[in-house]
Amino acid sequence: MQREVLYTECRVATMHSGKPEYGLIENGAIVVRNGRIAWVGDAQGLPAQYSNYSNESLGQRLITPALIDCHTHLVFGGNRASEFEMRLNGASYEEISKAGSGIVSTVRATRLASDKELLQSAITRLDDLISEGVAVVEIKSGYGLTIADEIRMLRVARKLESLRPVKILTTWLAAHALPVEYEDKPDDYINEVAILGLQQAAEEGLVDAVDGFCETIGFSPAQIERLFEVAHSLGLPVKLHAEQLSDQKGALLVGKYAGLSADHLEYLSVDDVPKFAESGAVAVMLPGAFYTLRESKIPPINVFRSTGVEMAIATDCNPGSSPISSILTAMNIACTQFSMTPEEALAGTTRCAAQALGLQGDYGVIEDGALAELAVWNVQHPAELSYWVGPSKFHKRISHGETS
Ligand code: NIG
Ligand code: FE
Repeated sequence: MQREVLYTECRVATMHSGKPEYGLIENGAIVVRNGRIAWVGDAQGLPAQYSNYSNESLGQRLITPALIDCHTHLVFGGNRASEFEMRLNGASYEEISKAGSGIVSTVRATRLASDKELLQSAITRLDDLISEGVAVVEIKSGYGLTIADEIRMLRVARKLESLRPVKILTTWLAAHALPVEYEDKPDDYINEVAILGLQQAAEEGLVDAVDGFCETIGFSPAQIERLFEVAHSLGLPVKLHAEQLSDQKGALLVGKYAGLSADHLEYLSVDDVPKFAESGAVAVMLPGAFYTLRESKIPPINVFRSTGVEMAIATDCNPGSSPISSILTAMNIACTQFSMTPEEALAGTTRCAAQALGLQGDYGVIEDGALAELAVWNVQHPAELSYWVGPSKFHKRISHGETS
């Protein structure tokens, strides 16, 4: 590994929070030392002490922080194209779920799949993300719904980190759906699988955060709260699938437990946003699910803006509501459907996504002290990352100061 590198001839979108216009530096230079950014700025102002570092020209390309997908369900068996067809023939997501398909049909396929099959299918989706400059991916359990299968999903997710140059964070989402063996016994399921399993998975060191699906077709706020209490006692941060289909006050629950993020939020009441803002949690926008389910209610983006809520964007890659393994497509949909600006979209997959995972300072910005996790693009302006739809304009990754 080269310990000291000087990157020049590049436009740098630093995504620094205090700077306007992407924190853009037109003729930039970046100094990397021991895997971290030692200096970034206008090339004219490069301190003399760095001028003899090994120099790599980036050919006038754009460089940004490497992208982060902070909400995925990347590990699963099978697919649900047949439900996509059912919905387009008139059935709703809730109807399909109540009829015993939906999430539980992926549970059947996931339980039947071998570890190797789960790993192989997840790798194809992970490679899609990597081909768009993604360096960090959050992956949830939630399609096992037994302690053994939930833990198996997290082990497969963690294994990906040894096979590809990405950082993987794993989230315990046993409170995702009620398996048939617990029909009409959601409280028993929370106690016997979601909570007991969390304790076991945490003991194995497999859990970075705890999530739940707080919905009429998922779990009630009271059930989620019992799970959050245990997460707290284990010192694990929480996050929640909240207000995707109805207003359950899930975002406020995230605030109460000082959680990392509330995700989806289409049905979040405008009146609850100021309280949510006070909590400092990130609002994670999942435009792929909005698009796939042909939702028409837009999350309260304007109120997030006016109250200073940070907005992240993620693929929510999953076989039911968001069969999308393209973070750039998610950014594009966030712009066209949610009226987020291209700058907000890029912040949403860099600085704000890092915050949603508790990785702020290390990832998602190009500033002194941050990790040198960077993406180089065959475009001139950062707005182009949200603008183009189709094959990626990604050129290469720089990881710990090494080009890949
Ligand atoms: O984020 N809403 C719950 N979880 C997923 C959907 C999972 C599925 O339909 O398989 C989501 O949209
Ligand atoms: Fe999700």
